[in-house]
Amino acid sequence: MRKQIAAANWKMNLTLQKGEELLNEIIALPHSLNEDQQAIFAVPFPYLAMAHQKMGGYKNVFIAAQNCYNKKSGAYTGETSVEMLQSIGIKFVVLGHSERREYFNESNQFLAEKVNICLENSITPIFCCGEALSVREANSQNEFVTKQLEESLFHLSAEQIQKVVIAYEPIWAIGTGKTATSEQAQEIHAFIRSQFAAKYGAAVAENISVLYGGSVKASNAKELFSQPDVDGGLVGGASLIAAEFVAIINALK
Ligand code: PGA
Repeated sequence: MRKQIAAANWKMNLTLQKGEELLNEIIALPHSLNEDQQAIFAVPFPYLAMAHQKMGGYKNVFIAAQNCYNKKSGAYTGETSVEMLQSIGIKFVVLGHSERREYFNESNQFLAEKVNICLENSITPIFCCGEALSVREANSQNEFVTKQLEESLFHLSAEQIQKVVIAYEPIWAIGTGKTATSEQAQEIHAFIRSQFAAKYGAAVAENISVLYGGSVKASNAKELFSQPDVDGGLVGGASLIAAEFVAIINALK
């Protein structure tokens, strides 16, 4: 059965001290995760060890890196390998966030290589996809997202694809306060799952978690997550406020 996941994406925010405070506040607030639910915190690289140490002991709670490099090791100044992440206990990496695609020119092909190296090292990619406003206005979101999935993921085997978490994040909803309606989210999540079903079969598609991202907050999480093909959220702004993120965890189905 696929997991329901609340994933926090801190992006380039907070200091080590503020991050630690936030995690302490989250631990102190009442929340529960059942067998099929996970909470994941994608924190900046310098805080990974601290966050893993603090949260690693809790059941179904994981720490994620926000990026990794596509090479095993070597002369790549400033980059971080999956082996390095492995060595400090990290099991998840966010890949292909629209901010990385836009500001760091990450292409579908480059992301395919990152997906591969993660899977080779037993790290779960949280693979982001999603269209810009102009694409949505032209009603081409399905074709756009299909191309992202095809070029970065469809070379994987049926066994491998079930180890990938998908995060659908319409760029027009990220950090804008403008959330997709639950109907819009359900429609494209069902479409994404149908693409996996067409390629890998329905049983495989049913096992893949598809998260929604883009202005998820405590007030809209329950409604979004209640949709049959929305398996939780990737949360930016609201994940920086303990009470908000805990309410989002508690909104998982
Ligand atoms: P947001 O960001 O929740 O602040 O819109 C989501 C994301 O970029 O992952």
